[in-house]
Amino acid sequence: MKKFLSLGLVCAALVCFCALPALNAADAPADGLSMASTKKPVTFNHSTHKSADCKACHHTWDGAAAVQKCSSAGCHDNFDKKDKSVNSYYQAVHSKKVKATDSCLSCHAKTAGKDKDMKKQLTGCKGSACHVD
Ligand code: HEC
Ligand code: HEC
Repeated sequence: MKKFLSLGLVCAALVCFCALPALNAADAPADGLSMASTKKPVTFNHSTHKSADCKACHHTWDGAAAVQKCSSAGCHDNFDKKDKSVNSYYQAVHSKKVKATDSCLSCHAKTAGKDKDMKKQLTGCKGSACHVD
């Protein structure tokens, strides 16, 4: 009986331990997020990016703390289009040279490959899925 009890406790502890990360993990917010740091905000949908790991974009996230925006203070908070530093918002979303993580555009370019329609939709400027008008 004692043996069963302690086995049960071990199991319960294990279940709790395994469930913890799931309880702590933030949920992605609803679709239609407006990336409002620029003149013409881009609408971002988490539902169309489910195949990517959260940390592919939220690359400083530790899996527990509050998820930061790209534009959070101290992150990509320089909105001067000409800025080329790591703090540049424009570069964070457009650069094809980022090493640590994919920018929106670099992943879209890889996704589209040579497909002309996808290229227009995912890597174009005006009239693309990103910059609708
Ligand atoms: C393809 C990139 C990408 C992926 C993958 C991604 N996100 Fe996001 N997430 C964003 C963008 C872009 C925003 C909008 C932030 C902004 O406006 O700068 C955002 C915003 C958020 C916010 C709101 C932050 C705030 O302060 O408003 C949360 C929470 C969040 N994401 C959680 C998640 C979780 C959890 C996952 C994984 C299940 C995930 N995201 C996957 C790009 C992504
Ligand atoms: C890790 C790869 C990856 C990254 C990073 C990424 N995307 Fe995407 N994005 C995709 C894929 C894959 C699709 C869907 C392509 C398809 O199936 O049509 C997509 C589609 C889209 C679409 C069209 C669908 C819709 O929801 O309207 C928009 C807009 C978009 N992405 C915006 C963004 C923005 C803004 C960022 C950066 C904050 C970003 N994406 C970062 C992979 C990525």
